[in-house]
Amino acid sequence: MEFGKFRLLIWVISTMCLIKCSIQFQPIDNYLLDCGSTTNSSIRDRVFLADTSDYHFLSNPEQESVSASNSQPISSIYGSSLYRTARIVNKTSNYTFSINQHGRHFIRLYFFPFPLNAGTYNLSTARFSVSAHGFTLLRNFQPDSTPVVKEYSLNITSDELVLTFTPSPNSFAFLNALEVISHPDELIPITAKAVELPRNHHNLMTQALQTVFRVNMGNQTVLPDNDTLWRHWYPDGTFMKYNNLVQFVSNITAVNYTTGDPAFDIAPLSVYGTATKLNTQYNPSALLNNTWSFNVAPGFSYLVRFHFCDIIERPPSQLMLNIYLNSMSVAKDLNLGEEMPNVWGAPFYLDAVTKLNGNGILNVSIGTSLAFGSYPESILNGLEILKISDSNGILEDGATGVNSSTSRSNSKILVIIVSACGAVFVLVLLGCMFFVINRRNRRKRKSSNEEYFTTNGTKENDENTLFSRSKMGYRFPLGAVIEATDRFSESLVIGIGGFGKVYKGILSDGTIVAVKRGAPQSHQGVSEFQTEIEMLSQFRHRHLVSLIGYCDEKNELIIIYEYMENGTLKNHLYGSDLPKLNWKQRLEIAIGSARGLHYLHTSSQLAIIHRDVKSANILLDENMMAKVADFGLSKIGPDLDKTHVSTAVKGSFGYLDPEYMTRQQLTEKSDVYSFGVVMFEILCGRPVIDPSRPRGMVSLVEWVNEWRKRGELEKVFDPFLVGKMKMESVRKYVEIGEKCLAENGVDRPTMGDVLWNLECALQLEGSEVKSPRVESDSGVGVSSTGFNEGSVGDFVGVSMSRVFSEMVKGEEGEMR
Ligand SMILES: *[C@@H]1O[C@H](CO)[C@@H](O)[C@H](O)[C@H]1NC(C)=O
Ligand SMILES: *[C@@H]1O[C@H](CO)[C@@H](O)[C@H](O)[C@H]1NC(C)=O
Ligand SMILES: *[C@@H]1O[C@H](CO)[C@@H](O)[C@H](O)[C@H]1NC(C)=O
Ligand SMILES: *[C@@H]1O[C@H](CO)[C@@H](O)[C@H](O)[C@H]1NC(C)=O
Ligand SMILES: *[C@@H]1O[C@H](CO)[C@@H](O)[C@H](O)[C@H]1NC(C)=O
Ligand SMILES: *[C@@H]1O[C@H](CO)[C@@H](O)[C@H](O)[C@H]1NC(C)=O
Ligand SMILES: *[C@@H]1O[C@H](CO)[C@@H](O)[C@H](O)[C@H]1NC(C)=O
Ligand SMILES: *[C@@H]1O[C@H](CO)[C@@H](O)[C@H](O)[C@H]1NC(C)=O
Ligand SMILES: *[C@@H]1O[C@H](CO)[C@@H](O)[C@H](O)[C@H]1NC(C)=O
Ligand SMILES: *[C@@H]1O[C@H](CO)[C@@H](O)[C@H](O)[C@H]1NC(C)=O
Ligand SMILES: *[C@@H]1O[C@H](CO)[C@@H](O)[C@H](O)[C@H]1NC(C)=O
Ligand SMILES: *[C@@H]1O[C@H](CO)[C@@H](O)[C@H](O)[C@H]1NC(C)=O
Repeated sequence: MEFGKFRLLIWVISTMCLIKCSIQFQPIDNYLLDCGSTTNSSIRDRVFLADTSDYHFLSNPEQESVSASNSQPISSIYGSSLYRTARIVNKTSNYTFSINQHGRHFIRLYFFPFPLNAGTYNLSTARFSVSAHGFTLLRNFQPDSTPVVKEYSLNITSDELVLTFTPSPNSFAFLNALEVISHPDELIPITAKAVELPRNHHNLMTQALQTVFRVNMGNQTVLPDNDTLWRHWYPDGTFMKYNNLVQFVSNITAVNYTTGDPAFDIAPLSVYGTATKLNTQYNPSALLNNTWSFNVAPGFSYLVRFHFCDIIERPPSQLMLNIYLNSMSVAKDLNLGEEMPNVWGAPFYLDAVTKLNGNGILNVSIGTSLAFGSYPESILNGLEILKISDSNGILEDGATGVNSSTSRSNSKILVIIVSACGAVFVLVLLGCMFFVINRRNRRKRKSSNEEYFTTNGTKENDENTLFSRSKMGYRFPLGAVIEATDRFSESLVIGIGGFGKVYKGILSDGTIVAVKRGAPQSHQGVSEFQTEIEMLSQFRHRHLVSLIGYCDEKNELIIIYEYMENGTLKNHLYGSDLPKLNWKQRLEIAIGSARGLHYLHTSSQLAIIHRDVKSANILLDENMMAKVADFGLSKIGPDLDKTHVSTAVKGSFGYLDPEYMTRQQLTEKSDVYSFGVVMFEILCGRPVIDPSRPRGMVSLVEWVNEWRKRGELEKVFDPFLVGKMKMESVRKYVEIGEKCLAENGVDRPTMGDVLWNLECALQLEGSEVKSPRVESDSGVGVSSTGFNEGSVGDFVGVSMSRVFSEMVKGEEGEMR
């Protein structure tokens, strides 16, 4: 089910679930019987009356009572004293209770076929049915050899409750103890709309329900004493499918009912205060479900109630969950997190009705949300599975029960009801909606990007493929990062940048990642970190390196990217032993990076300016495909506001736009300039700043300019390439590269033009040289400009040597 539908429902339901929180619950009707006993039994402060002295509940008071020998080894069972005696019922008999408050009541029946010392009865052979108000609670029931409490909730609208015990032929019935107590009507929702099949209106008002499982996550028992409604919650350990993936947590004090009433009846503190969560240290990529498996009778509908309470100590972030019942989605990206800062620790529950067909296994899965920004976490505090009486009023098929019901309607009914406690609930809902709306807007924005590409490009449709959702970014626990990088082992360092060191890491699911770890942070580091995450999560493109996650725990600033097998473009151009790239490869790399930049400049209304385009920020994957990286300096531009004089010029020397340096005017044309420098780096195979060269040739741009003036531009070509390139291709390439380096931004082409021209150059280089289209919307068409022609003025930037003489620290000293 989509979250949208879920949201629609919220309106329907929220009106009815502002549950008034009662003061310590005092049931109006409260019948507790210790059947067959001659003495009253106290279980803590509840007294179960002996029913031998006073038979007025039972229609056939002459029925025999039996008791167990004192040596019964069941004392470890809760309420064990109730299981020592039993009432035998050998013909149809009624228990009748007068009802003072109409509405929902719990009926709890205690059964334990203890061995008798002597007598005509063997309790293990008992077989009988129990019905009440037209509902068959038990049919041909034969008690197991362990103590059991069967619990039902019935809406009693008459002044009497009659429980009829009917022995099966040639058999008899027995009962150890019995409770009939009123419970708050709000505990069972009145009605639930079927979401997938709108005609199905699932009315619970008059239905009987049987509790088949009531489980406290965190693997801890909650005894009836700790529950305002005396419900027994069983530990979840036995139902867990992958118990090596989970972690039990407990923090009772973290639970905040907000209404200030600790007697809230939906579930007690001790249920909300413990939880089973995914062990995220174990698997940081955390694309996991936490699953519990329950055996339930097929053919019935079930009301499944999920109890949540965010009690996990963690950095503030969103906690979002995907919830499934047998692979059917119950809720997607359910937000339990800190959208609303006040709801941390607020209990929340969610109901779903599902019809179970098939093999009688109900898998309950809580999965981590793939939504960006969601903490990789899955948590569940409690779970109740209530069987809903079928259309014949039958709740339980006995041992020989018919299974005709399985052949009934196969239609899946999935009904969601959302309820929670009071105002907290509304807050959470508002949070969810806010989040959904936000997400919608974000989606919209992405789809308009796609439109841009489909209308603009031919080839580019497929370029815009968003990375699969599984690649979306996550907030990673620090422990996972530490593990992935072998405690930031120096041997795994693959790069050092202005931000800090970059490590190669292996997530426990085997994914290889690049982990950029911020140096002990400055304020500036934090803002660059945020910028980078924001940019990378909003702008996803085949030619932009993709974000896998980040971590900001304990003063660490860590960004996790996809690992780029072949490292930086720079390493492939010079200063390493790597095999030299041929011209075609270089052209393809130039085209790929141009595409990434073009996407940044055009995909949203305001251009995104990278501000740090350089060969060290162009990474190559295993197929030598280029991706632009390092968005820490990116800015949503253009930034022409000259009042911010203090804004330091940022970027890397050798690549800086002279116009930006002198006038602090930042536009996307600054990226174009830097890209022009990269283009010559690619063509020349030399560093942008090479201190070993004579003065005036230290800078690549000056050097190119110098040879250009001398009319011998061929001299600058990478010697490896000389004679291995088609001249038309190089000519085209140099022509557009020169234009990128124009002194004034307005004279430079757009990245779109650069891209188009580079593709021409690639076509010219290709064996089947077709004559490229000449028309171009920006006027940068194909011309026959040779190397020795062209305007020198276009070529000369601000005298770079002025800057370099001061700052040549390394080939790429950074001013950050
Ligand atoms: C059990 O308790 C009830 C009410 O407190 C009392 O009336 C009754 O006499 C007690 N029965 C026995 C057997 O103690
Ligand atoms: C049922 O129990 C009563 C009392 O013990 C006994 O008198 C009667 O014969 C029994 N009836 C059957 C059918 O066993
Ligand atoms: C039990 O109650 C049902 C319905 O209230 C009634 O029809 C039946 O006669 C009663 N049986 C006995 C043995 O009292
Ligand atoms: C009671 O019945 C059960 C199941 O039929 C059987 O296993 C057990 O031995 C019987 N106990 C006695 C004391 O006859
Ligand atoms: C119980 O049933 C009555 C009559 O059908 C209905 O008015 C009432 O709302 C129901 N109560 C609950 C809690 O479902
Ligand atoms: C549960 O009940 C026991 C005794 O009734 C009490 O000592 C304990 O503190 C309770 N636990 C919680 C979590 O309320
Ligand atoms: C859950 O607790 C029980 C004891 O109550 C223990 O035997 C079991 O191993 C626990 N389960 C897990 C998965 O730890
Ligand atoms: C439990 O929650 C409280 C309240 O939020 C918090 O102060 C405390 O540190 C938590 N305790 C543990 C052990 O996490
Ligand atoms: C519970 O939450 C409310 C606000 O929702 C807050 O005012 C109150 O201090 C919280 N109580 C505790 C114990 O944290
Ligand atoms: C429940 O999970 C188990 C194991 O993952 C799977 O084999 C089974 O088919 C699932 N059952 C249903 C009804 O989805
Ligand atoms: C979790 O389980 C649901 C339903 O079986 C499935 O659709 C989903 O892909 C699972 N999620 C993960 C991360 O395994
Ligand atoms: C349940 O139904 C199936 C086929 O519909 C049948 O083979 C099977 O024997 C039935 N089981 C019982 C206990 O009636």
